[in-house]
Amino acid sequence: MTKGFVAKNCIEAISPYAAGKPIEETAREYGLEVDKIVKLASNENPLGMPQSALKAALAAAASGNRYPDGNARLFRQAVARHHNLSEDWVIAGNGSDEILELAARLVLAPGLRCVYSQYSFSVYELSAQENGAQCVEVPAKDFAVDLEAMLAAVDCDTRLVFITNPNNPTGFALSKNEVEDFMTKVPETCLVVFDEAYCDFLPPELRFDSVELVRRYPNMMVTRTFSKAYGLAGLRAGYGIAHPEMIEMLNRIRPPFNMNLMAQAAAAACLEDQAFVSRVYEVNRKGLEMLESFFKERGIRFLKSCANFILVQTGPRTAELYTELLKRGVIVRPVKSYGLPDWMRISVGTEEELKRFFAAYDESAKALG
Ligand SMILES: Cc1ncc(COP(=O)(O)O)c(C=O)c1O
Repeated sequence: MTKGFVAKNCIEAISPYAAGKPIEETAREYGLEVDKIVKLASNENPLGMPQSALKAALAAAASGNRYPDGNARLFRQAVARHHNLSEDWVIAGNGSDEILELAARLVLAPGLRCVYSQYSFSVYELSAQENGAQCVEVPAKDFAVDLEAMLAAVDCDTRLVFITNPNNPTGFALSKNEVEDFMTKVPETCLVVFDEAYCDFLPPELRFDSVELVRRYPNMMVTRTFSKAYGLAGLRAGYGIAHPEMIEMLNRIRPPFNMNLMAQAAAAACLEDQAFVSRVYEVNRKGLEMLESFFKERGIRFLKSCANFILVQTGPRTAELYTELLKRGVIVRPVKSYGLPDWMRISVGTEEELKRFFAAYDESAKALG
């Protein structure tokens, strides 16, 4: 039957991105009140956004009849200051997703390859697929990204590698030495996108200056988001850092006005509020400890996380458990689409939210017998 158009073959093969279940949908389906629902499904910030960001976003909204600055200059200058760079090293994105997609569009085409690890962010596969490139998923080693195996998978047709630190959904972190070693060995013709969406949750001893690596390796790009530690997921703000030559090429394919007015203003304001990020880090660290103790006490396996979520082996009845939790107003993230049908990912919430989750979990487990 004709659909009235002919989609590219590579797009026919794509399964759409599976997002965390929205609060409103859950309320509708289970007859619950919206404000009673606890969402621990999308690694959002349970503390909201800094007051300065909210104020800046609302002030910007008043000029919503005008287009935003298409070059997001003030935002990019704020990012550049934050990293001690000049603004021509920065590209602004409608979330860091957009930067990942732009990187793929820049270098991938049919006949070329994109390498990423098993159990990594699904947008990597999607962005390679939509460009008709071959997806090469490299098996993880005990759930951790295996950089040696990824390097071995890179050949002369490999134009893009995605590395996440810390990784979603496993929460594992890489060391600077491992990443640097990878960069010294990977061919210069291969763009390495180092996705640091969760880097603000890394414990201090595992942090390192990735931008310093970008300065030394023109085939490397770092991506960051404001959706996690800065609490701007709904506004959509992210950026990429790379050598100006790469940024200039990316700007050729970047949609005009890709970062909206409110996102530009709020994200620039956030960067000035590092005290907020420190508080987010502390709340997250305590939340992770609460989650670890809860699952330890019940003898349930989990992976030690360096991010704002934890991956838990909830077993063969994970899908039923997920539904039982929904009935009790708690949304978590089953990770079957990541090839982990027996696991679920739980985002760190506030202490109150976690207590609600713990009660709902025990009741759900009991209901399942
Ligand atoms: C590893 C990773 N990278 C990038 C993103 C994209 O974030 P955003 O587009 O909200 O900036 C996410 C979102 O969940 C993620 O988990």
